Amino acid sequence: MSAFLKAAEDHLVRYGGDAFPNLFTKAKGTVVTDSSGREYLDFTSGQMCATIGHNHPAIVAAVHRAGEKAFHFFSGMIPESVAELAQVLADDWLPGDLSKTIFINTGSEATEVALRMAKMYTGGYEVLALGGSWHGITGGASSVSMASDRKGYGVPAPGVFVIPEPNPYRPYFPGLDEEAAALANLDLALKLYDMQSAGKGAAIIVEPVISAGGVLVPPRAFMQALREAADARGMLLIFDEAQTAFGRIGTRTGAEYFDVVPDIMTMSKTLGGGLPLAAVSTTAAIEEDIHAKHFTYYTSHVSDPLTAEVGLAVLEVIARENLVARANEMGAYLRGRLEGLQQRYDVIGDVRGLGLLLGVELVTDRESRSPAHALGALTTRKCFEKGLSMNIRRRPERGSVWRIAPPLTVSTDEIDQAVDILEAALRESLHETTGVQAA
Ligand SMILES: Cc1ncc(COP(=O)(O)O)c(C=O)c1O
Repeated sequence: MSAFLKAAEDHLVRYGGDAFPNLFTKAKGTVVTDSSGREYLDFTSGQMCATIGHNHPAIVAAVHRAGEKAFHFFSGMIPESVAELAQVLADDWLPGDLSKTIFINTGSEATEVALRMAKMYTGGYEVLALGGSWHGITGGASSVSMASDRKGYGVPAPGVFVIPEPNPYRPYFPGLDEEAAALANLDLALKLYDMQSAGKGAAIIVEPVISAGGVLVPPRAFMQALREAADARGMLLIFDEAQTAFGRIGTRTGAEYFDVVPDIMTMSKTLGGGLPLAAVSTTAAIEEDIHAKHFTYYTSHVSDPLTAEVGLAVLEVIARENLVARANEMGAYLRGRLEGLQQRYDVIGDVRGLGLLLGVELVTDRESRSPAHALGALTTRKCFEKGLSMNIRRRPERGSVWRIAPPLTVSTDEIDQAVDILEAALRESLHETTGVQAA
C-alpha cells in the first residue's frame, strides 16, 4: 500500500457513497488519472460538475487571471467579475424575469438560500418536495431531500410535505398513461397537503430532472401543474437546476425545456465547471421585497471573485463551443448506443433522460422489474477495472440506475469506447451472477 493510501485510510473520514479503492491525481477533458498513471473515462463529469470537460484551458486561464487580480475579498466588497456574471446570467441564460442573483459555493447552500428567500417572502415555512429528490446535505436542504440518508441526524425542519415523484417505469398509479399518472400523484399530494397545512405555505421545490432519484423526467404538464399549484397557494416555485442548467439536458435550462418560469432558480455544479460556485436567481420584485425585510445570506465566500471568473469562463465556453446543441447531438448518439444494449440484454429495463443526462435501469427480469442491485454493483466495479468510471444509484426503495453524464465535450469515439466497456463488464457480470440473479 502506498504512503498516501495509508494516510487516506488512517486519517480521512468516510463520507458515504461508493468510494474507489485508489487515489487520483489528474483530470483532463473526459479522462481522469489515478496514482498509478491508469486512465479512466469519466462518465459522471466528476460529481456532475465538469460539463465543459475537466481542466478546460479556459478554466485554467480564469483561475490564473483571478490569481493575478484577487481570489477573495471582504464579503461586502462586490468584485467586478461578480457583477459581470450576474449580468451575463440575466441577459443570456435565465428565463422570464429572473434577473437578480446571489453567488455562493455549493448546491446545498443554494437550496438554503432559495428556501430562506421563499420563507421570508411568503412569511410561511411549509415546503412541498418530490419523492426521490436530492437538494443537498445541509440542514434545510436535507429536510427537503428524499433520496438521501435521513436517519440518524436528528430533527429535520418542520413543514415538509412530499409529492410522489412521477416515474413511468415504476408508477404509483399503474394503468394510467405517463401524464395522467404524474398528475394523479400531484392531485393526491395536494389534497393531503391542503388537509395538513397550517396555512403557511412557502415553496414547492423540484429538480427539472429528478436525478439522484433515478433520472426521472416529469411530463411537461406536471411541471406546469406545479406552477399552478404554487400560484394557487401563494407559494413560490423553486427549480433546483444544479444538474440541468447550462446545457446538460440540451436546453439552456430545465425551465426552458419545460416552458415554465420558476420564481427562484438554483444553479451550482454546472456553473462552476468543477470549482465550488453556486448561484440563486429570482425576480427583482422578490429581491426588493426580501431586501426590505432584511434578507441575509452573508458568508465568508459569498461573491468570491475566483469562482465568478471561472463561471464567466464556463458560460463563455458553453456558448462558443455550442455545447447546448452538442449535448443533444452526443446525447442522441449515446442514447442510441444504450438502446442497442437494451435490445440485447433483458436486464436493461429502461433507458431514459434528456440530452447528456441519461439513466439506465437494471432489473433482474422485465416482468417483475425487480432492481438488479448486485448485478449493478458488480458491473460498475468491472467497468472501473476496465477503465470506465460510472455511478450507479442503488436505493432500497427504488431501482438500480446508472446515471450517465459525461462532459458535453465528449467525442463519439469516447462514447463508443465507454459503451463497449460497459457491454463487456455487463456480459462478464451476468455470467458470474446468473445463479445469484436467478435465486
Ligand atoms: C439537484 C441537486 N441539488 C443540490 C445538490 C447539492 O449540491 P452540493 O453537493 O454541491 O451541495 C445536488 C448534488 O448532488 C443535486 O444533484
